[in-house]
Amino acid sequence: MQVIEDAAVFQRNCRAAGRVVVVPTMGALHEGHLALIRRARELAGPEGSVAVSIFVNPIQFDRQDDLAAYPKPLEADLAACEREGADLVFAPTAGTMYATDRSILVTESLLSRHLCGATRPGHFDGVCTVVLKLFLLSNAAAAVFGEKDFQQLAIIRRMVRDLDLPIEIIGHPTIRESDGLAMSSRNVRLLLEHRADAPRIWQALIAARDLLPYGERNAAVFLEAARTHLLASPFFRIDYLEVVDAETLQPVSAILRPSVLAVAGFYGGVRLIDHIRLHP
Ligand code: PAJ
Repeated sequence: MQVIEDAAVFQRNCRAAGRVVVVPTMGALHEGHLALIRRARELAGPEGSVAVSIFVNPIQFDRQDDLAAYPKPLEADLAACEREGADLVFAPTAGTMYATDRSILVTESLLSRHLCGATRPGHFDGVCTVVLKLFLLSNAAAAVFGEKDFQQLAIIRRMVRDLDLPIEIIGHPTIRESDGLAMSSRNVRLLLEHRADAPRIWQALIAARDLLPYGERNAAVFLEAARTHLLASPFFRIDYLEVVDAETLQPVSAILRPSVLAVAGFYGGVRLIDHIRLHP
């Protein structure tokens, strides 16, 4: 496995690696990331190469404290990549990725209006910009992303469509802890009592979704069911709770097409997100 810090070297080695499948990450790898790498390994096949990027992208953080507190266990991450059969790991520094006078940003202007795009200004511009750079550097034929960040996945698919990028985007289902909490690199920062309370997020989403078989279609009723569950927590502070169309990500008032109930919120300074599909 090659570990590469320099962008030009990564680009050159990917060109020599044949069919590349890339897995962009910010490191602090957990089972969710590893599932993506395993999927990439399958997609690349014995002839192809799996490239994992590990880069805590400063321009997608809206809060300095979140950026500063982001875990960076590089040695353990490299060992995990090796175990899962990655061929290349790209672990650049911010200085390698961005010129100090950089002046181009990729902006998405529709799908990012709600949910995380509304509460984290500039976040998806930062994501699109770094992901486009990773696509161009790796020249990958395919990239694997988690459905956990479903708004991110939808925006990346849109970027690929709108900019005619020659890459296939593969979504992977969310990997959860046994108690239902969606795996996240931020989970290790949860206080013990917050960690114990956190499965309520997924339970709230399930409680709402369970209204579907009863014929309920009013989005406000789903929101109320989830909110009641979340407000029972002495710790959890809701950032947003919304029902949006699964394709356009615009808020809906009735579940008539495939929709998504999405939540974000804080335990102390730790922000967690999750969502569930509502298919009528
Ligand atoms: P990061 O949060 O490290 O996530 C990297 C990839 O792992 C993303 O595609 C994310 O959706 C996926 N992932 C995270 N938790 C998961 C889980 N529990 N189950 C399945 N997949 C999961 O997302 C980012 O980094 C960054 O925004 C990035 C795309 C790398 C751009 O900087």
